[in-house]
Amino acid sequence: MTKARSPFLDGPLDSRLVSVASSTRPRVFSGMRPTGQLHVGHLLGALGNWVRLQDEYECVYCVVDLHALTTGYEDVRGIHRNGLEMVADWLAAGVDPERSIVFRQSDVPQHSELAMLLGMITPLSWLERVPTYKGQIAELGDHLQTFGFLGYPLLQTADIILYKATRVPVGQDQLPHLELAREVVRRFNHLYGEVFPEPEAILAEAPLILGPDGRKMSKSYDNAITFGMGDDEIDRLVRSMITDPQRVRRTDPGRPEVCNVFSWHRLFGTPPEEIDAVHEGCTTATLGCVDDKKGLAARVKDVIRPIRERREQIMADPDRLERILQEGAERARAIAAPVMAEATHAMGL
Ligand code: TRP
Repeated sequence: MTKARSPFLDGPLDSRLVSVASSTRPRVFSGMRPTGQLHVGHLLGALGNWVRLQDEYECVYCVVDLHALTTGYEDVRGIHRNGLEMVADWLAAGVDPERSIVFRQSDVPQHSELAMLLGMITPLSWLERVPTYKGQIAELGDHLQTFGFLGYPLLQTADIILYKATRVPVGQDQLPHLELAREVVRRFNHLYGEVFPEPEAILAEAPLILGPDGRKMSKSYDNAITFGMGDDEIDRLVRSMITDPQRVRRTDPGRPEVCNVFSWHRLFGTPPEEIDAVHEGCTTATLGCVDDKKGLAARVKDVIRPIRERREQIMADPDRLERILQEGAERARAIAAPVMAEATHAMGL
């Protein structure tokens, strides 16, 4: 039988087998805000990359809880818990805290310190013209008219360069932030000497994954397949998927190329010969949508089940999770402290 090829199965699950031990590996830094449960969209995008990059790079992965405060400062009750759940999601997907440094931003005070120093040399106009800045205020409201929110990309710059990381796996939406980071680095080095390398983005080749309702998969649309989702919920979700709107009756032939169910077959690793059979069955009306969805739901459950089970195991021992984060913070500080000293020295302090 042909091995199912899926971005999920090829990446996260196999990557633990390869281990490259070398201290000269270039360093990767990335972070995620602790805003809620991760879903398969993350796995196909940035998080899948995080897992794979561990083989080749020294990776530093950060729960950016200070960044969460830039937009969510009014209700802070969930930050801590969400951070823990997110790390459980990371580990369940294959992030390995032995090979990679996994920690919380607020446990390493140098992030705030360096952001403060970068604020001294960054013209306001650079921050105001970051495209997400005005856009987010227009979308989310005037409570974002804060110093902290304006400084969001500077804190992100500090995150990265505090580790002299050169590669930053992110989604497309983060490119303006990376561009600003590079500009700030150039300015710093120009003023005070070559201290920081210019970081470069590693873009996730994320195939767009639409939710069952046909909109972009997102927690805020309530259409996401999360890592913790149970089999029954997955069945219900897949049954509710929108198919070719022109296939009204069971006997109408369908058009797989406009059908989200068909594209999920590829994303979730249905073998090529079965995909061909689905295509044939759909276009000749010998396969109905209900049956097709049953087959798809089985695939989705096979992808999610092992992740969900690992996630449950990890969440069952929150003390261990906390220890992982404390140890990660120690390793992070060991890198951050000398770099911070270099920066303050360069700035004449
Ligand atoms: N701004 C990023 C996002 O919303 C999160 C982030 C914070 C980050 N600091 C970072 C990403 C440093 C990469 C590197 O996705």
